Amino acid sequence: MSHLYFGGVDVVDLAAEYGTPLYITDENMLIANFRRYKDAFDGYYDTDIYYAVKANGNLAILKLLAREGAGADVFSTGELHLARLAGIETDKILFNGNSKSDDDLIAAVESGVKVSVDSPDELDALASVAEQLGKETGIAIRVNPEVSPDVNPKIATGLKESKFGIPYTEVVELCKRAKNMRNISLLGLHCHIGSQILDVSVFRYAADKMLELVTSLHESGIELEFVDLGGGLGIAYRPGEIAPTPAELRDAILPVFKRAEIAPPKLILEPGRSIVGPASILLCRVNAVKHAYRNFVAVDAGFNLLIRPAMYDAYHEVVVANRYDEPGSEVYTVVGPICESGDIIARDRLLPEVRRGDLIAIFDTGAYGFSMSSQYNGRPRCAEVLVKDGHVDLIRERESLDDIIRNQKIPERLMQA
Ligand code: LLP
Repeated sequence: MSHLYFGGVDVVDLAAEYGTPLYITDENMLIANFRRYKDAFDGYYDTDIYYAVKANGNLAILKLLAREGAGADVFSTGELHLARLAGIETDKILFNGNSKSDDDLIAAVESGVKVSVDSPDELDALASVAEQLGKETGIAIRVNPEVSPDVNPKIATGLKESKFGIPYTEVVELCKRAKNMRNISLLGLHCHIGSQILDVSVFRYAADKMLELVTSLHESGIELEFVDLGGGLGIAYRPGEIAPTPAELRDAILPVFKRAEIAPPKLILEPGRSIVGPASILLCRVNAVKHAYRNFVAVDAGFNLLIRPAMYDAYHEVVVANRYDEPGSEVYTVVGPICESGDIIARDRLLPEVRRGDLIAIFDTGAYGFSMSSQYNGRPRCAEVLVKDGHVDLIRERESLDDIIRNQKIPERLMQA
């Protein structure tokens, strides 16, 4: 009876030691995924990789990426805090976001990171915060490039009607205004067209549009230091699916940069999913097998820990981890423990006969897995471990019932009998 090994570790032993549900991240795979980006661009073009912290903000993971030279795309003061704690250099952090509060702007200016400005309103607010703090802040303008990648509309971010960015035709004017503002230093243009993109040609299209703006700005006497094309490279979630590599992304976009008539600026990329996604599995225990209208396998992790199937109809491969070699014999629908009909992890999958107590491993859960988790239904979040060549480190403790009531207060008047 063979078991699934991940990072050189028998996951059945991990379940026994750390309990389930459990997020397991393979350090070697994580590093290899990051290096694939470095290797694809090093020697070809001046490029920085700013890892998208939203995909997975575990500090140990951030620390590993910081050691590899990653910068960070952060989308909140919380993510900024994580990136800095992990030792990511502030001059390689871009503070993104379409709705930054004064406190966010203060945190950005005080820490000296670059800010991606998403609206004229925000530009004015940022200038006044920077003036009050007596500092100069480097900015990028977030561009809405009006590009439609073939992805779930919920994760397309550069459509004409998207909430992100400055309308394409208004970017040059806003840049001119920014250029003349005190305490603001216009450094670059930023965009992000979407996520889980499997066809790299849309990146070329986005690069084209960004370089068009760079040229128009040059004609107006404005030179930029960088163009940030965001993240978005997809991964192979389904068996047989083929995901483009960072080298293919390079081959799609660099010709655009190289044929630019003016000295093209440095390139920044913000990958999240393609670095962490395949590097983790979510291990869960079967609590019940029910033969009803469908064959249901009810496990101890649901959309509280992995919301992607419920939110985007996303596909994640599932296997029976403690009988990994057994051939499929029945079609099952794997569901979570949450009190919602939509709490379905995987529909109609051929699996070996599943029994209560079996372990199910859900693949490719490193991106937007734990980072989108909740305590819904009063469920403490699960633990996370890092595995490498047979070695295991706990990188997040399982939450306790105390964590569910943390910060809650019962007013004194309700305490009286
Ligand atoms: N940069 C910006 C400005 C972004 O908005 C995002 C993702 C990224 C970088 C990273 O994109 P990636 O390389 O990971 O595709 N929760 C959804 C994905 C939402 C993506 C939001 N923005 C999911 O689970 O599919």
